[in-house]
Amino acid sequence: MADTMNDKEKIYLSSPTTYKDERDFVAEAFMTNWVAPLGPHVDNFETEIAAYTGCGYAAALSSGTAAIHLGLKLLGVGQGDVVFVSSLTFSASCNPICYEKATPVFIDSEPDTWNMSPQALERAFEKYPNPKAVIVVHLYGTPAKLDEIIQICERHGVPILEDAAESLGSTYKGRQTGTFGRIGIYSFNGNKIITTSGGGMIVSAEEELVKEARNLSTQARDTARHYQHSKIGYNYRMSNILAGIGRGQLIHLDEHIRRKKAIYARYTEAFADIEEIVMNPLNPEGDANNWLSCMTIKTGSSVTPDMVMNALDDQNIESRPIWKPMHLQPVFAGYDFFKHNDSDISVSEDIFNRGVCLPSDIKNTDADMEKITGIIRKLFGMARK
Ligand SMILES: Cc1ncc(COP(=O)(O)O)c(C=O)c1O
Repeated sequence: MADTMNDKEKIYLSSPTTYKDERDFVAEAFMTNWVAPLGPHVDNFETEIAAYTGCGYAAALSSGTAAIHLGLKLLGVGQGDVVFVSSLTFSASCNPICYEKATPVFIDSEPDTWNMSPQALERAFEKYPNPKAVIVVHLYGTPAKLDEIIQICERHGVPILEDAAESLGSTYKGRQTGTFGRIGIYSFNGNKIITTSGGGMIVSAEEELVKEARNLSTQARDTARHYQHSKIGYNYRMSNILAGIGRGQLIHLDEHIRRKKAIYARYTEAFADIEEIVMNPLNPEGDANNWLSCMTIKTGSSVTPDMVMNALDDQNIESRPIWKPMHLQPVFAGYDFFKHNDSDISVSEDIFNRGVCLPSDIKNTDADMEKITGIIRKLFGMARK
């Protein structure tokens, strides 16, 4: 018997939940011998994501990181260009800026959604009036303050690359995240709301951009019978097998969102009587997919995030810290950072210091949730609910 990744006793942060649909699509790929980085599942997965999100056009790629990289290339980012990017995010949001030898400039969070602060963005434009692009992240599935950010970027004539890796299915004013920027990206990494095990998608309302992404992702072949290249290309296309997994998963996206929302609601209810705990914010102008439920602990509490993570870990329950802001990373030391306000500590650092990502696996049972919330309530001196 093969080992399985799932330790039956363990409660996971966010592990894949799969169905027969994926296995049927993958079996079809084998039966038809479409075992390649192209094929009908790739085409159909793109069409289905485009239909679900209303993005216009989509190209399936090997990862969300690859999608950000190609997105930057399509926006003409190159050596020496400045790119503004949310600081409170995973490093994949900004690493591709450095692949192109461009310069990341980090923008703080605002406290209402934990996403890019429009105030800090304004200040960044005062010092750097001509960035080549702005990468906006929707952290943990909560939509950013898009109206304000878009208004600032439009005033400066700078395109937005929307990093919706964590927010597939979240909406802002009724429209899907990922569809507001000139370019958007999604991730289908193993822990995301739906997964292809690894994979990503680049989307845009502009067909030409997506066509170009497809070409760059398959070694940038010119139209000719022989192998001819006028540009440097990449091997970034999604395989037909993985696209089959994606198609099966997409059928269940709405159900996953419903279950993620129920987890968030459960935590909110379980901690309602603990004054020191504040759940991660939702944007009232949007509808989050609640990919990860997170909590922060108010300053002055005797309980620390480490104590929460250790107590869960002792019971074989996975949790993790909030992303460490990019402006605090050794690898990005020396790059500029714009704070939300004048307080000593930036908003993003404060969230990092006080926050924990809670187990948000949709396979968690009622008993699992009771166990998790019971452990945390005990730390704060409260009985199980
Ligand atoms: C905000 C954010 N951006 C980009 C990525 C990169 O996606 P991928 O892992 O598919 O390369 C991730 C997740 O992994 C992410 O959380």
